[in-house]
Amino acid sequence: MFPQTRLKRLRKTPGLRRLVQETTVSASQLIWPCFVVPGRNIQEPIRSMPGQFHYSIDRLAEEVKVLNNTKIGGILLFGVPDKKDAFAKSATDKKSLIVQAIQSIKEVAPDLPVITDVCLCAYTDHGHCGILDSKGNIQNDASCDVLAQMALSHAEAGADMVAPSDMMDGRIQKMRHVLDESGFEELPIMSYAAKYASAFYGPFRDAAHSTPSHGDRKTYQMNPANAREALREMKLDLKEGADILMVKPAGPYLDIIAKAKERFDCPIAAYQVSGEYAMIKAAAANGWLNENEAVQESLLSIKRAGADIIITYFAKDFSSPL
Ligand code: PBG
Repeated sequence: MFPQTRLKRLRKTPGLRRLVQETTVSASQLIWPCFVVPGRNIQEPIRSMPGQFHYSIDRLAEEVKVLNNTKIGGILLFGVPDKKDAFAKSATDKKSLIVQAIQSIKEVAPDLPVITDVCLCAYTDHGHCGILDSKGNIQNDASCDVLAQMALSHAEAGADMVAPSDMMDGRIQKMRHVLDESGFEELPIMSYAAKYASAFYGPFRDAAHSTPSHGDRKTYQMNPANAREALREMKLDLKEGADILMVKPAGPYLDIIAKAKERFDCPIAAYQVSGEYAMIKAAAANGWLNENEAVQESLLSIKRAGADIIITYFAKDFSSPL
């Protein structure tokens, strides 16, 4: 009998394929990122991200109420404020857009995990993720102080977790210290630990109005060519007090996700970013691929690589697992 081993035997029927499937994706492991704008009764389409919107708080609360019935893993809030300045003052405001959004969402869906993005880029008039000195260079340590205050304001408003995405050195340690000192020692931090300077953030910058007015983010976000450096970033963040380590983007960085999973025992998150979303949407809109199948496959692949949690714009309309 040739060949004796026939792997096709277990692929013969849908039932058998299901039985031996090694990885599944479920809604409870997905986080939906969404954009909050000031005002009332606003749900404005984001041009570069079909199916995603700018929501005023009231409309987002309506959306979240529906979403909560799907048992999605959580939502990640991004503020798109109308006031920007050199010091990101509105980021630490105790009545900021995000503070108000957290409070409203907690009223309609108290059990849904609400996570907040902690970064200054949408709040600074220059669009960089930290505070600049007079020469236009990022002031790392001063930026960490502002970021920690921003995280604290979210904690006080009732956020379930904070997610710093700025890539300053030492920000996790600073944030952990400020949170602990203020009685939030049990509030988890999901660190954007290995965040690459990626071309795939293009649509997001459109959505968050956060394109830097000069220069780029390569002095703080990672070089896409480096893998070992990502492990150093993650090791440091874990030591500084991060509870979840994130790799971002996801699809083009599956090797980093796999390495992270092997090396660290904490939950690993991966962010399927705006460009990954927009590519699938655009191809599907042209009839070049089947959207549902492509979404399922992309999420499954990110999980197979080792992600426990996936942050994805597809979370909102994620239906049944593969
Ligand atoms: C803010 C931030 C960015 C993203 C998440 N947080 C943009 C950036 O760093 O340029 C990207 C998310 C996406 O592309 O979906 N620093």
